[in-house]
Amino acid sequence: AVLILLIEHELRGKVVWVTGASSGIGEELTYQLAKLGALLAISARREDELQRVKKKCLQISSLTENDILVLRLDLTDRSSHEAATNSVLKHFGKIDVLVNNGGRSQRSLFVDTNLDVYNAIIELNYLGTISLTKYVLNHMIQRKKGKIVTVSSVMGIMGAPLATGYCASKHALQGFFNSLRTELTDYPEISIIQICPGPVQSQIIQNVFTENLAKSLENSGDQSHKMPTDRCARLTLVSVANDVKEAWISDHPYLAVCYLWQYAPTWAWWLMNRMGKRRIQNFKSGIDADASYSRKKK
Ligand SMILES: NC(=O)c1ccc[n+]([C@@H]2O[C@H](COP(=O)([O-])OP(=O)(O)OC[C@H]3O[C@@H](n4cnc5c(N)ncnc54)[C@H](OP(=O)(O)O)[C@@H]3O)[C@@H](O)[C@H]2O)c1
Repeated sequence: AVLILLIEHELRGKVVWVTGASSGIGEELTYQLAKLGALLAISARREDELQRVKKKCLQISSLTENDILVLRLDLTDRSSHEAATNSVLKHFGKIDVLVNNGGRSQRSLFVDTNLDVYNAIIELNYLGTISLTKYVLNHMIQRKKGKIVTVSSVMGIMGAPLATGYCASKHALQGFFNSLRTELTDYPEISIIQICPGPVQSQIIQNVFTENLAKSLENSGDQSHKMPTDRCARLTLVSVANDVKEAWISDHPYLAVCYLWQYAPTWAWWLMNRMGKRRIQNFKSGIDADASYSRKKK
């Protein structure tokens, strides 16, 4: 209850820009932020989906039309990021929190995957994120305050089969933001926050990169064993309100593997080799790669 009160106190009236707000974790974050009374800039490529999200926000919160800015934004179109930042600043006059959430995952073995896919993952998850961060951070440095929140992944901590490019992009984000934080020591009121979820219910599997850019996943499988989206969003906002520098938000066994990876990597590598075999088998037989060792949810 204390933490929830802190969230409300911290985020009410703040201007929060959520990227990737048209589905999944970003969409749910937007609803919870709206209920908390944050003013919202929401962006993604699909403007119609963003309008749907905005409409629901207006129904479930006391926000009004002008409190939510819908902004079409392709993270890979870096030349548009300065203008997009200026649009948010023109509308609200400030940005208190940037939530770098937009991104895509991967389901393919390295040996089968075209290098163009690796380029596209890095362009989106890594370069797109740090490009937008650069413009927003300039503004935060002028104000000497703000929060840059990045939805990384447990895949930014550990490695896993079928996701070599995705893991690389999330490790890049981890390294980048851990280093950026050390460059901002003159700005104690600017926080760099990394959120590392494990598997969460969203559209991520439907949208994964596969062996080549033209191909999508044929069968995304059952996602019901994954963490519910609202729980992930809630814990993310608790982390943001409390300036937690890095939050691992996951069910077991991923959380346990994260700890092993951090503190006893030799055991983690042994365990991941065993889990990884099953992951590849699942993938090849068309069910979700994580299906059989995630905790079943009712
Ligand atoms: N779900 C999980 O298990 C999980 C676990 C760990 C980390 N994450 C991270 O959580 C974040 C959100 O993913 P999600 O699970 O919520 O998946 P999702 O439902 O597929 O949502 C992804 C969001 O990213 C946006 N996006 C994709 N490509 C984009 C582009 N080129 N430019 C701008 N926006 C783009 C999508 O919007 P448009 O298609 O409309 O552009 C969508 O709003 C990602 O960074 C992901 O890596 C997810």
